[in-house]
Amino acid sequence: MDIARTPATPDGNPEMADAAPVKPTEPPLIRREDYKPYPWRVPEVSLDFTLGLTKTRIRSTMLVERNPAGEASSVLRLNGDEITPVEITVDGQAINSWSMDGDDLCVTLPGESHEVQIVTEIDPAANSKLMGLYASNGMLCTQCEAEGFRRITFFPDRPDVLSTYRVRMEGPRDRFPILLSNGDRVATGEAADGTHWAEWHDPWPKPSYLFALVAGDLVCNRDSFTTMSGRQVELGIWVRATNENGGDLARTEHAMQSVKHAMKWDEETFGREYDLDTFNIVAVSDFNMGAMENKGLNVFNTKYVLADVETATDGDYDAIEGVIGHEYFHNWSGDRVTCRDWFQLSLKEGFTVLRDQLFSAAMNSEPVKRIEDVRVLRSVQFPEDSGPLAHPIRPDSYREISNFYTATVYNKGAEVIRMMRTMAGPERFRKGTDLYFASHDGEAATCEDFVRSIEQGAGLDLGQFRLWYSQAGTPKVSVSLDHANDTATLNLSQTVPPTPGQPDKKPMPIPLRLALFDRKTGKHHGEQLVTLTEAQQSFSFSGFAEAPVLSINRGFSAPVAIDRAVSNDDLVFLAQHDDDPFARCEAMQDLVVRHLCGALSGSLDDRAREQGRQAIGAAFAAVLGDGSLDDLMRGELLILPGETYLSEQMLVAEPAAIHDEREGLKAWLGTTLEARFVALHERATAAGHGTSAAAKGARKVKTQALAYLAAAAPGRAAGLAAAQYDAADNMTDRQSALMVLTGLDTPERTHKLLDFYDRFKGNALVIDKWFSLQSSSLNPNLLEHVKALAEHPDFTLKNPNRVRSLYMPFTGTAQGFHAASGEGYRIIADLILALDPLNPQTAARFVPPLGRWRRIEPGRAALMRAQLERIAAAPKLSRDTHEQVSRSLD
Ligand code: BES
Ligand code: ZN
Repeated sequence: MDIARTPATPDGNPEMADAAPVKPTEPPLIRREDYKPYPWRVPEVSLDFTLGLTKTRIRSTMLVERNPAGEASSVLRLNGDEITPVEITVDGQAINSWSMDGDDLCVTLPGESHEVQIVTEIDPAANSKLMGLYASNGMLCTQCEAEGFRRITFFPDRPDVLSTYRVRMEGPRDRFPILLSNGDRVATGEAADGTHWAEWHDPWPKPSYLFALVAGDLVCNRDSFTTMSGRQVELGIWVRATNENGGDLARTEHAMQSVKHAMKWDEETFGREYDLDTFNIVAVSDFNMGAMENKGLNVFNTKYVLADVETATDGDYDAIEGVIGHEYFHNWSGDRVTCRDWFQLSLKEGFTVLRDQLFSAAMNSEPVKRIEDVRVLRSVQFPEDSGPLAHPIRPDSYREISNFYTATVYNKGAEVIRMMRTMAGPERFRKGTDLYFASHDGEAATCEDFVRSIEQGAGLDLGQFRLWYSQAGTPKVSVSLDHANDTATLNLSQTVPPTPGQPDKKPMPIPLRLALFDRKTGKHHGEQLVTLTEAQQSFSFSGFAEAPVLSINRGFSAPVAIDRAVSNDDLVFLAQHDDDPFARCEAMQDLVVRHLCGALSGSLDDRAREQGRQAIGAAFAAVLGDGSLDDLMRGELLILPGETYLSEQMLVAEPAAIHDEREGLKAWLGTTLEARFVALHERATAAGHGTSAAAKGARKVKTQALAYLAAAAPGRAAGLAAAQYDAADNMTDRQSALMVLTGLDTPERTHKLLDFYDRFKGNALVIDKWFSLQSSSLNPNLLEHVKALAEHPDFTLKNPNRVRSLYMPFTGTAQGFHAASGEGYRIIADLILALDPLNPQTAARFVPPLGRWRRIEPGRAALMRAQLERIAAAPKLSRDTHEQVSRSLD
């Protein structure tokens, strides 16, 4: 630790930030090791809101006491952000013993315990960052995680200060007929002048980031749930009272069912019961994230609430169920037990992602869910782990915490906890989580607290395992199998690659589920779990007269990259015989990855290339013809590895070459299996109606069939797609048909895009799809097209969903984002520069695609870097974008 870096602030500085700035503008580096308890406790807060769209007045009354666990200090340091105090009183007396230190308000307090009252005034309509209290479509709502509460009032805005909240809000009844906050509503009233008020009380102590308030003209889908102990909970899903497109209220039923399923599942699986009389969800159309777990009042992006068959795809339905579950599960993993500081974010997010994954698996197909989750991990988290933004699931430092809501903290965090579950088994794991909830209820805990509870409750030794919390980077495991004298010997070795700030790594414990298949019978004698703990280790298995076929990392038991020395024949064998659906799918993927990477590196001659294709074609034909597979699983097996994942497999990636090679294989498969894909499309068209799993599966393979045919026989595919579009009785079919058409050079493309727009104009979520479809399409003029879409009257930088729908899919396109001219990179840099002053959090999320330059061929890499440098040179950048850009350039 650098002792020269003492904060130049009043005594008792509670902040963890203390780095000396490198450049005058460099925001401070916050370090995990500098954590200090806050010198004060704030057991009770009372907030009084006088609501208005352009002027809201907040009177906050805090009961403040010295924290015996903190350093003694007479200064109460309260965080603020773009606010000024209008009035400050201590124990009822106006005071002048306060000062501002940057954004913070410092008040000197003489005694042990005081009542501190602060009045602030804010303009919610002018709040384009969508953090704190802001206006959306005439309603007022809040987003406080991670540091938004300080935009409302001065407060110790850190997760280890827990308070009970009483909230009173008052405003014009006509504009804000519905007034909601955390907990349960305890009183309401009205005045003759048309104002009314409501008072809410949340009995559970919580940090400020879980505070929420919503006021507006809302309507409610009401229901109820009886908990395991027999208490009745009133459920409400609130949406804007509008009649546009038939109104949103009718689209809340799936979300409501998901809430009830989630409540029941958490009781059964984790023994967790809901703890208030009310559980409300509000859908908001301007929202930076997916959804937020505020205690008793979850606030959701409309995208994760609203669904009906006409406007939402099967994927949307699944995502809603998952996100509803996720936010609900936070009630225990996040709210009842919260985080001590933001470095512990994975404590709540990693664990809650695991909980939502298990929930979705239980509600749908377990293997399909696992395959999908691993696909996301590999296409988003693996690139993060191998790039300039790599960090451990428990980071050591940050400048802007919003930048650390990452796939590493979330998805790898979930994988790390899943490994503990795999090693302990579900029953013992449950003993561990029971102990965790029981021993930390009402506390702000750390990842270490969690690991210790699992260790004790489940009876595991997690000493070496803690490295998963501190080391970044995806371990690479090399695997080979020798056979001699009845014995198969498995040779494993691991390396953890260097990452920024971590040049040397230690070996980690890597639990690998495996099975050894008899080549003749296609069977194995039971699965085993081996844990690789050293850099190199061998494991012997006797009783094999002939060399078996190895199936390893089954179910993706560890989040590692496996490099296995096996023949194509063994992969073909596993693609046919493996009884672990994940491992079967994996064998298919490996077969394809190996072929494409071989072709791209130029190591395949014509004959080898043809042989590779034939092997893949045979495996695909087997999948198409396998009557024992359900269509949801068949659909997974037919998905080709994505371009980002393929780039990760190459030392230096050539985006255009990867794209062409992959499209080439798609076209070859489409041609070779054309009749089968046509037949599949026909069968699936008959079967794909309704909401059953079988119908969902049929729609999934129908989309696949169409995509392969589009690559092989565009004319035929265009006809099929247009017919599918016209006949569609659901959004899944309509969207997939339109997706295929947008990539084909046919007049139908223009017709159907127009039709889609006219049919759904005014429905923001569907118009988002209209933007996404076009910006991710195989359209050869993608660059011009995306520029034109940015000028469309429906495009706006003010709505994060709209921004993401146009530009996020675009960052994954070879012919657009990675256009050789660099024009795609410029488009994204322009977006970042234009969005940063309005909404830094959303702007910063577009930096990582440009940050991947090191993995791209030198010509494009230079163009990507040049755009990062252009952004870095902007006269004024937010902390969010600044941090991401400077880390990406280092
Ligand atoms: N706590 C987060 C919401 C959040 C994220 C607030 C970032 C502030 C900054 C919430 O629980 C969450 O994780 N939401 C996810 C969806 C979830 C299903 C992974 C999101 O918003 O993307
Ligand atoms: Zn979460």
